[in-house]
Parts: sequence; structure tokens; C-alpha cells
Amino acid sequence: MPSIVQDSDPDRPGVHPQRALVTFGGCDYLGLSRHPRVVGSAIRAAGRHGLSTSASRTTTGDTIEHRTLEQELAAFLQSGSAMLTLDGLTANMAAMQMLTGRVNAAVLDERAHPTLALAATAAALPVRMYRHRDASDAARVARSVGGPIVLATDGVFTADGAIAPISELIDALPDERSALIVDDCHGFMVLGDSGRGTANAAGHSPHDRLLVTTTLAKGLGCSGGVVAGPRELLEPARDRISVYVCTTPASPALISAAREALRVATDEPARRARLFENAERFANALAHAGLAPPKDPATPIFAFWTGDETDMRDLRRRVLARGFDLPLMAYPSGPVPCYFRASVSADHTEAQIDAFADALAGCRGSA
Ligand SMILES: Cc1ncc(COP(=O)(O)O)c(C=O)c1O
Repeated sequence: MPSIVQDSDPDRPGVHPQRALVTFGGCDYLGLSRHPRVVGSAIRAAGRHGLSTSASRTTTGDTIEHRTLEQELAAFLQSGSAMLTLDGLTANMAAMQMLTGRVNAAVLDERAHPTLALAATAAALPVRMYRHRDASDAARVARSVGGPIVLATDGVFTADGAIAPISELIDALPDERSALIVDDCHGFMVLGDSGRGTANAAGHSPHDRLLVTTTLAKGLGCSGGVVAGPRELLEPARDRISVYVCTTPASPALISAAREALRVATDEPARRARLFENAERFANALAHAGLAPPKDPATPIFAFWTGDETDMRDLRRRVLARGFDLPLMAYPSGPVPCYFRASVSADHTEAQIDAFADALAGCRGSA
């Protein structure tokens, strides 16, 4: 069951006792973070390898788990190569560092995840923005920079589940040296053939001008990051980029767990089917409550807002009192400064979604 234990009054942590809530937050889309096979794999691997490699992979910190997951992810994502990183943030840093010297600037969707701008800055690339999901504006900004650039976007946007126009963005690249980075933290394991992601759903595999990054923390419920791209770009980077050479990799226990999570996702395709059924049920419930703004129908993330921040804090408190966690966000790159960001998982039951919708409608009525 998707549940969390937290303070029952989020504005006064520690004052009230903690309790379990049914959560409509987080990004454990397939419910794999608590799957017994996945958790069991982590425990066994911790016994074999310890919790940490305690050194970078380029020194003494490499394991068979890391090397094998890279091969498995390259095969799954249909890319020439895959490079594991500590997390999704460092996957974006690695992708930007790989392109240093080849491009002059990073041109980002104005609502791209903040880690993309951070990664570009860390790679000493000037950052420019284009209008949200507007490929013709991306082409305009790219031309105004002059020379090769890297476009970067979320595949599925964190805040509201909108999907980036991948094919149009590839067409917007100004020349052969330019590239597109798709941060697919929320599309990986969700969209595309068997969860191969947003680029796959748009008909693309990673190639010389298309790098895909993702986290292992969401769709696979573990921890770690990955860059998928062509062998010619990724393999030489293992000797060169600081974010790979100079950091301890994700725990071998979690990498082993991610391998098992990938197998579970393949063995249990009904999980994705249930995710989409739940997303549709949730979308209908929000529409019924008069809360649903238009959105891409295929993703399990929903953003909505019901008044000013004080009203929404009150609504959240009333919903919490009925045993449901509905995250209120003031997170960068959102559609408005403060919004509810709800998400569903394959593990939600129909009864939980219906009960949540009733609670939400009841709480609004009792405002
Ligand atoms: C779109 C996006 N990119 C990158 C990240 C960073 O991933 P990680 O938490 O594994 O560092 C996140 C996580 O919240 C994300 O939502």
C-alpha cells in the first residue's frame, strides 16, 4: 500500500504524534520500492558487497552489479552504452560534462527540472531558456546563440506530468554537433514500450544527438542515476568527467535491487497496466470534483490548485485529518508558485482512490 509515516500536522513537525497515511505523493510509480523481491535483493547484495564501495569505480569501487546493470540498462533503453551515476542529479551533470567542448551553451525548457540548469552551470555552459514545450522557440533561441548547443528538457515534467515534444526538439537542433538531453526521471518505466521512456514513446532511441538521463529512484524504486547514449561518447567519458571519475557510485545493494526491479517490471507487466488504470480513475475523480486542468492523459502526475496558499494549506490539513497525504508544493519549475502535486502508483487500490476523491470533495465542501 502506498503509505508514509509523517507528522500529522506538517506545519508543526514534532508537535503531533506520527502516523501512517495513504499517500498520493512521491514517484514510486510501479510500487517497486517495497516489492519483496527488490528489497530481498538489496539485503542479499549488502551481505555480499557491503553497503558502500567506499571508493570511486575508477579506483577500487567497481562491482559486477554496477557493470551488469549498465549492460542491462543499455539493452533495455536500446542505447549503445549506459553509464551509472550516483543519482539523477549527477546523471544530468555527467551528460552535460560529456558535451563540454562540443557545444557553446545549454538551451533549456523554462520549466525544466532545476538539476539541468545546475548541471549546465557546473559544466561551465551558459544557460538560455525557451518557452515551455515550444520547439519553435527552442530553435529560435538556439539560432540566436550561434554554433552548436545542447537543448535540455524533462521527458515528463515533474510538476504536472506534461510530456515534452521530443521529435520536434530533435528537429530544432541547429546542426549535427548539437544534441538534446532528455531528463526522463518521470517517464522511465512509465511511458514507451515496456517503460522504455518518453523518447521511446516518440519513436527514438538514444544516439549521437540524443542523450537520455534518468534516476533509478522513481520508476525502479531504488537509488542511482543513468546516462544512456552512444558508446563513442560515453566510454571515453569514463576516463574524463569528474562526476564519474571522482565520486563513489550508488550503493551496490541498491544497484542489485535496481537490477531486480527491472526484472520484476518485466515479469509483472500488469503493474504498468494498473498504473494507467489508476491514473485514469484519478483523473476522472479530479474532473468530477471540478479540479482537473487539461493535461497529457498518459502520465500519473497531476497538478491542481484551489485558491491561495492559505486556503490550500487548510484543505491539505483537512485531507490529512482523514488519513490522506496530498503534497502541497512550492517547488521550482511548477505551473504556479504553489500547487497540489498528486501522483498515483500501481499499488493504489480503486477503493483508496475513490475514498481519497470523496475526502477531497468533502473537505472542499466543509471549507
Ligand atoms: C526531473 C528530475 N530530474 C532529476 C531529478 C534528480 O534525481 P535524483 O533524486 O535521483 O537525484 C529529479 C528528482 O526529483 C527529477 O524529478
